[in-house]
Amino acid sequence: MEIKGALQADALKGKTVVITGGGTGLGKAMGTYFSTLGANLVISSRKIEVLQKTADEITALTGNPVLAVACDIRNIEEVENLYAQSEARFGKVDVLLNNAAGNFISPTERLSANAFSTVIDIVLKGTAHCTLTFGKNWIKNKQQANVLNIITTYAFTGSGYVVPSAIAKGGVMTMTRSLAVEWGKYGIRHNAIAPGPFPTKGAWDRLLPGEL
Ligand code: HXC
Ligand code: NAP
Repeated sequence: MEIKGALQADALKGKTVVITGGGTGLGKAMGTYFSTLGANLVISSRKIEVLQKTADEITALTGNPVLAVACDIRNIEEVENLYAQSEARFGKVDVLLNNAAGNFISPTERLSANAFSTVIDIVLKGTAHCTLTFGKNWIKNKQQANVLNIITTYAFTGSGYVVPSAIAKGGVMTMTRSLAVEWGKYGIRHNAIAPGPFPTKGAWDRLLPGEL
């Protein structure tokens, strides 16, 4: 399959990109493109079988290495292991793409305390775990790097029926802006992308369930 894109071939040669939630959906699509541009790719999420299948698919397509690492971003030790394994395999990490998320549609008054916390723990605290862990290593190693956070359009506007996700994505947007300023002096850039609706299986199964 030929992939057409905006950047020149080999634009990411020698760069290592770590993508959380990289086995499916938008993370898989972005990772595939980065790999066609020559990047060393690390994809991570909870399900190692899904990751390994995606890693094999991408390498077969591009010929470039893809490391799959199981990591629940809610668990700081697993995030530290993700950084350590990425560095051990590729020598350094240049880009952290905070793409992993959890979400589902529900009237807010029907959410249990655990349902609310689960989404916040993945989207806001999980993203913070990754950013802090990678950032501390980059600062210690005096290495310049990039963080790219995936938020959503409703981070700006708010949205009913996905309130924990909207709050958490708004928090990630604020973290992006705050650390862009604070860590700019270390050469660590922060950016965010806010996609509108994309019909990935992960999103559509949870946001447009069958009976709707
Ligand atoms: C109400 C729900 C629920 C639902 C789960 N819960 N689904 N409550 N409605 N549909 C409750 C459970 O009952 C439980 O509370 C608590 O949430 C935790 O559920 P678990 O299944 O134990 O959690 P876990 O296995 O950790 O799974 C996390 C998850 C799941 C977020 C619930 O959906 C998941 O793994 N999602 C990952 C992928 C994903 O969400 N992709 C979509 C991204 S789309 P109790 O009280 O019973 O213990 C996106 C942006 C879209 O983010 C923007 C579009 C414009
Ligand atoms: P997706 O395929 O469901 O992607 C979410 C990924 O996150 C999955 O690969 C999942 O893998 C991983 N994940 C979930 N919980 C995790 C955890 N605790 N630790 C580590 N990984 C975890 O959905 P998508 O649509 O591609 O979403 C990707 C990103 O785009 C998300 O940030 C989402 O909020 C954002 N976005 C999507 C849309 C849309 O319409 N699709 C719109 C705006 C923004 P495992 O289950 O294996 O852990």
